[in-house]
Amino acid sequence: MFEIYKNKTILVTGHTGFKGSWLCIWLESLGAKVIGYSIDIPTKPSLFELARPKCIDVRGDIRDFKKINNVIKKYKPEIIFHLAAQPLVRKSYIDTIETYQTNVIGTANLLETIKKNKFVKAVVAITTDKVYLNNETCKAFCESDSLGGYDPYSASKACCEIVISSYRNSFFNINEYGKKHNTLIASARAGNVIGGGDFAQDRLIPDFIKSILAKKTLIIRNPNSIRPWQHVLESLSGYLMLGKKLLEGKKQFAQCWNFGPEHNDIKTVEQIVSKMCQNFDNKIKYKKDTKKQPHEACYLKLDITKSKTILKWIPKWQVNTSLDKITDWIKQYQKKQNMKDVCLKQIKEYING
Ligand SMILES: NC(=O)c1ccc[n+]([C@@H]2O[C@H](COP(=O)([O-])OP(=O)(O)OC[C@H]3O[C@@H](n4cnc5c(N)ncnc54)[C@H](O)[C@@H]3O)[C@@H](O)[C@H]2O)c1
Repeated sequence: MFEIYKNKTILVTGHTGFKGSWLCIWLESLGAKVIGYSIDIPTKPSLFELARPKCIDVRGDIRDFKKINNVIKKYKPEIIFHLAAQPLVRKSYIDTIETYQTNVIGTANLLETIKKNKFVKAVVAITTDKVYLNNETCKAFCESDSLGGYDPYSASKACCEIVISSYRNSFFNINEYGKKHNTLIASARAGNVIGGGDFAQDRLIPDFIKSILAKKTLIIRNPNSIRPWQHVLESLSGYLMLGKKLLEGKKQFAQCWNFGPEHNDIKTVEQIVSKMCQNFDNKIKYKKDTKKQPHEACYLKLDITKSKTILKWIPKWQVNTSLDKITDWIKQYQKKQNMKDVCLKQIKEYING
């Protein structure tokens, strides 16, 4: 399905993060030559260190135009998956300017480099499901809905969408593709991604993993919140499908795309936690955090009709299947198994499933 990536030189920004590490492992299995560009390894432990995907591992700041420009000039990637970001809502309330600089200026820096480095054929820029103006009306958002963002993280990613769209219109217009330029740019808005190997702060599954490992009660913040939970391999398969279309020169795919679960497969935070507790024989307890929390959207749902009908991307794993895969991942991690093999096995199961 993804043979096109074999022997391709690919830049992955944010390769040391949770999603970036899974993507590098998948690309390695496809025979791609991966260059990674990240400022640091964001967590300890990390999937990146556990699995050590094969790649040229460059450390640099996406806010540093000169550095990212030099890396692109040196390695000449044909396609870029842009994942580098400050991705945490709660952190964005504290490190607000850094969030805007990394997410918005970082994205603009990357796109600016491509104006000069004309060998880049495709860019898949990763934003989020949180880019939509969310009035909590229980509506599933589709790609034509208004952008917005209450908290700084969501607002910064909505800004990214505007930057991406502006660069596409102004410099990489699809009407001038093949004449004035050879680059197609798309953005991907994925739901709340879950999977083994996420150790970030203030996320549900990482908090669950930490509680399991420390044998401590899990504290949950918003038990009734609804999110478009999806396994990391679901969103990555969407990015890879999109990247493939762009590499094939199909200019109608150079636009924005939602990737999330089916509308009848949405769950509350408490339903996720309760299923994970069952998977661990109820050895772990949970309780609600009673402290006042910064604002986070209570209801968030994506309409994935466009991706399903036009891109032909269909979710494969229901949320309960994803939670079973995460359970298996954690149990293998507890047994100190080779985590790259565990990830590769899950990628194979996903492809064949
Ligand atoms: N995890 C989710 O649920 C989710 C959902 C939707 C969208 N996303 C988006 O997917 C992408 C990856 O998310 P993740 O969960 O893997 O995050 P992560 O925190 O695990 O990884 C972030 C990566 O970005 C890099 N990075 C951060 N600041 C940088 C900078 N200034 N310069 C260069 N690199 C920098 C980090 O080193 C790391 O490699 C982000 O763009 C995020 O907004 C994540």
